[in-house]
Amino acid sequence: MMALKMSSILKSVLYSRRIFNQSRHLCVSSTLLISCTKHYMQDKSTHFGYQTVKESEKEGRVHEVFHNVADTYDVMNDVMSAGIHRVWKDKFMEVLGPTFNTKLVDVAGGTGDIAFRFLDYNNNKSEHLSTPSPQDSDEDTEDIPSRSVTIVDINQAMLDVGKSRAEKCGRHHGIEWILGNAECLPLKDEQYDAYTIAFGIRNCTHIDKVLEDAYRVLKPGGRFLCLEFSNVDNTILRSLYDYYSFQVIPVMGEIIAKDWNSYQYLVESIRKFPKQIEFASMIEEAGFREVSYENLLFGVAAIHSGYKI
Ligand SMILES: C[S@@+](CC[C@H](N)C(=O)[O-])C[C@H]1O[C@@H](n2cnc3c(N)ncnc32)[C@H](O)[C@@H]1O
Repeated sequence: MMALKMSSILKSVLYSRRIFNQSRHLCVSSTLLISCTKHYMQDKSTHFGYQTVKESEKEGRVHEVFHNVADTYDVMNDVMSAGIHRVWKDKFMEVLGPTFNTKLVDVAGGTGDIAFRFLDYNNNKSEHLSTPSPQDSDEDTEDIPSRSVTIVDINQAMLDVGKSRAEKCGRHHGIEWILGNAECLPLKDEQYDAYTIAFGIRNCTHIDKVLEDAYRVLKPGGRFLCLEFSNVDNTILRSLYDYYSFQVIPVMGEIIAKDWNSYQYLVESIRKFPKQIEFASMIEEAGFREVSYENLLFGVAAIHSGYKI
C-alpha cells in the first residue's frame, strides 16, 4: 500500500516536472517568438530634422509640429518667404495647367493653397469661351464648368484652417477635405488625372511609400507634380541661405507663432530631404516616366514632374 502511494507521488512529481519543463519550453519559445517578431518589426531609425528618432515616432512628431503652427501657418509662410511661396505656388499651377476636366488630388494639402489656385486657374480665360461669360447672371454662371479637388492631409488642425478659409471666401463647392496619410491614401486606385504635393513630402516618414501611393491613385496617363524645398548648389548663395534659415527663421517662428522648435525642424528637414537628382530617381523607381525637375530661386525649391505611362 505504502509502495503504491509512493509510486503515485513519484508519478505526479514526474508529471508536474514534465509539465513544468514543457511550459518552460513554451515560455522560452514564446520569448523567442516575441523577440523575433520584435526584431522583424524592429523600429528603424529615421530623421526628424537633425534628430534621430524611431520611424514609429516621426509621424507623431510631425503631427505635433503642424498642430502647433496651424493657426499661424499662412502668416508665417508670407513673412518667412516675403511672399515668394505665392509666386512658386502660382508657377506650380501653371506647370500643371489643369483643364476643366482635370480631376486633382492635392496631398498634404494643408490649408488649401494649392487647391484654391487649382479651382481659380484660368477661370476667366478663353478655355471656356464657348460657355456663358462669368459676368452674366447667377443662373448663367451655373452652366460654367467647375473643377473639383480632393485635399488629403494627416492633420485635422490644418484642414480646419483650410475649411474656414474656404468658407470665408465663399468656396462652398468643389473641395473635398479628407483626413488621411500620404503613405496609404484612403482613396481608390486610378481615380485622378493629377496628383500634387506641395511642401509636404519631406515631412513623410517613407517617401517611397508616398510615391507608390501617388502612382496607385493616378489614372494611366496621370501626372505627378511635387513642389518642395530643395538644394542650392552655389556655395555662396547656399551660405547666405543657410544663415537666413538657421539664424532668422526660428526667431521669426518664436515671435510670430511662439514656436521656435517647429521652425527649427522646418529648416533642418529641408536639409535632410534628397537633392534634386536623387529625388528624381526615387520618382522613377516608383514607376513614373518622363521625370524632370525645374529649380526655383537657384534651387531653394524645385518642381518635380512625372507621368504614369
Ligand atoms: C508645409 S505644409 C504644406 C501645406 C500646403 N501643401 C502648402 O503648400 O501650403 C505640410 C503639410 O503636410 C502635412 N503632412 C505631413 N505628413 C503627412 C502625411 N504623412 N500625410 C499627409 N499629410 C501630411 C502636414 O499636416 C501639413 O499640412
